[in-house]
Amino acid sequence: MPDPALATDLAGLTLRSPVVLAAGTAGVLDEVGDVLPLDTLGAITTKSLTAAAREGNPTWRILPTRGGMLNAIGLSNPGIDAFCAHVAPRIARLPVPIIASVAGFSIDDYVRVAARLDELPALGAIELNVSCPNVHGGTDFGVDPKALGELVRALRPVCSQTRLFVKLSPVVIGSPSIAALARICVEPPGASETSGPNGRPGADALCVSNTIPAMSIDVRTRRPRLANRTGGLSGPGIHPAIVKLVHDVYRGVGQPTETPIVAIGGVLSWEDAAEFILAGASAVGIGTALFADPRTPTKITRGLNKWVRAQGAGSIQELIGAAELA
Ligand SMILES: Cc1cc2nc3c(=O)[nH]c(=O)nc-3n(C[C@H](O)[C@H](O)[C@H](O)COP(=O)(O)O)c2cc1C
Repeated sequence: MPDPALATDLAGLTLRSPVVLAAGTAGVLDEVGDVLPLDTLGAITTKSLTAAAREGNPTWRILPTRGGMLNAIGLSNPGIDAFCAHVAPRIARLPVPIIASVAGFSIDDYVRVAARLDELPALGAIELNVSCPNVHGGTDFGVDPKALGELVRALRPVCSQTRLFVKLSPVVIGSPSIAALARICVEPPGASETSGPNGRPGADALCVSNTIPAMSIDVRTRRPRLANRTGGLSGPGIHPAIVKLVHDVYRGVGQPTETPIVAIGGVLSWEDAAEFILAGASAVGIGTALFADPRTPTKITRGLNKWVRAQGAGSIQELIGAAELA
């Protein structure tokens, strides 16, 4: 069990430790329990769930690359009906909070899935994976300010019992700043309704971020190495880029609106996790590192514990956003 000094808070959801398993990297729900004591984790994020079951993309859909991994899984998941019937009943018995990730290709898709999840009494939060193409506009929800605002505005009243987290896309060239997109999530333009346990008009917490759009070409065959042609880059190579995004979101939106941040991207060691905390994260997601060593979360929790003491802090909360920038 983690030291009480590691406890953190995500919009009223108490986590024993800031270490959270990132969406899609640890099975559908709790399968990682075979190799990791679940009560040592802060939270587990489910695989992104869609309205219908999806097989995902053909292989290759995961590849190693310098400094990380490329993936184009294509949202392979059992679909919301099978999840609610066969997987969700386990949630109430798990010794760790569950964050359910939702993906879709239209606002109606997201609404359908989130409405079912909102009925689950033991769920910690619903997380919107907005790095999905909007079939009505073509662009991903996460980089289109209008579509993002409409999505969060539509989802807020649907999540009437459950905290609503939004997992931002990393900023790509030509899109608005990540702080502008984060502000839209927290205060969606035109939102009149507030709902959820915190009575907010938009997101209760922000997750920063999803993978970085990427591509790799085999120079011998001249073909893209991923069957989907393009995919997402994750792992240690993206960590410094995500530290900057977390810093920008914390200073621009998280701190002034008291919206907690889950930082995700390239965490391999406790130092990487500590860096995210200092940049402004209340919790830290681990994804790619689980593929190298599924016990990484335990090692990171231990390292963070020693770090909090070495910094002379009473708890990890004192170190959130505590980078000395002057
Ligand atoms: C194989 C794989 C599958 C993923 N599936 C999802 C997913 O279903 N939903 C989601 O929001 N993010 C998904 N992600 C992104 C991760 O949750 C995380 O945001 C990203 O990998 C960056 O963290 P990392 O560098 O620690 O892996 C996936 C990443 C990988 C590597």
